[in-house]
Amino acid sequence: MNVDLDLKPIAVYGAGGFGLEVAMLIEQINAVKPCWEIIGFFDDGKAKGGRVNDWAVLGGMEDLNTWFSPLAVVFALGMPGVKRKVIGKVNNSRLTYPSLIHPTVICGSSKHVRIGEGAIICAGTIITTNVDIGRHVLLNLACTVGHEAVIGDYCSLMPACNISGGVTVGEASFWGTGAKVINHAQVGADTVIGAGAVVISDIPDHATAVGVPARIMQRTPSMATIER
Ligand SMILES: CC(C)(COP(=O)(O)OP(=O)(O)OC[C@H]1O[C@@H](n2cnc3c(N)ncnc32)[C@H](O)[C@@H]1OP(=O)(O)O)[C@@H](O)C(=O)NCCC(=O)NCCS
Repeated sequence: MNVDLDLKPIAVYGAGGFGLEVAMLIEQINAVKPCWEIIGFFDDGKAKGGRVNDWAVLGGMEDLNTWFSPLAVVFALGMPGVKRKVIGKVNNSRLTYPSLIHPTVICGSSKHVRIGEGAIICAGTIITTNVDIGRHVLLNLACTVGHEAVIGDYCSLMPACNISGGVTVGEASFWGTGAKVINHAQVGADTVIGAGAVVISDIPDHATAVGVPARIMQRTPSMATIER
């Protein structure tokens, strides 16, 4: 492995489509300021030693937990429950979890915005001020997060979601593409907000809400089970 000494080694956990997008994000960070050497992917569902695009598959969770040298890792997993479960299995003290912020992201001063470790903030996203973004949160392409919003650990917001001012989103909430919420609503933990939904009232923990305005729907446990 030929790692440039000026660059920090980084690996992406999750070699699916979103993993490729995260690798692209890292390359775009590097294009502005070289920081990272992508050494490959970890993924329990791919053959160790194979390749995904230009990168090696370095193994799965066992290989990550026995990795021998300091390594930054980012978890490219969209489903919050899966992300939380996978991260809960990591026990290698050599690993660190940088937050990755695309160069086009507009964000208030770091004095007033906290972005937790492992967060992935994709191109075109805007975060204003007095915002708290938890650990391993994903804000996918072109999301907006308004003043005093709080987004809990492991949440994943798909492209073009809009979180208005004063909103609180609990841990591990999944937001489908284009979902939005009016100011000061409280959205619970382990919730699913459907693509295109407009949330205008509080949503309790574990609920799934869809439509305009968003209404809580009854769901079979299929997808919920996959997520958790
Ligand atoms: C909300 C969601 C998770 C529900 O998934 P599901 O449990 O598999 O639901 P189903 O597809 O079985 O649909 C159940 C019902 O809800 C309706 N429904 C599902 N998603 C909806 C949505 N986003 N808005 C409005 N209605 C929706 C369906 O039309 C169906 O209605 P019916 O019972 O009257 O026929 C899913 O539809 C969704 O919106 N996912 C977001 C995916 C996404 O944005 N991915 C981004 C990738 S980058």
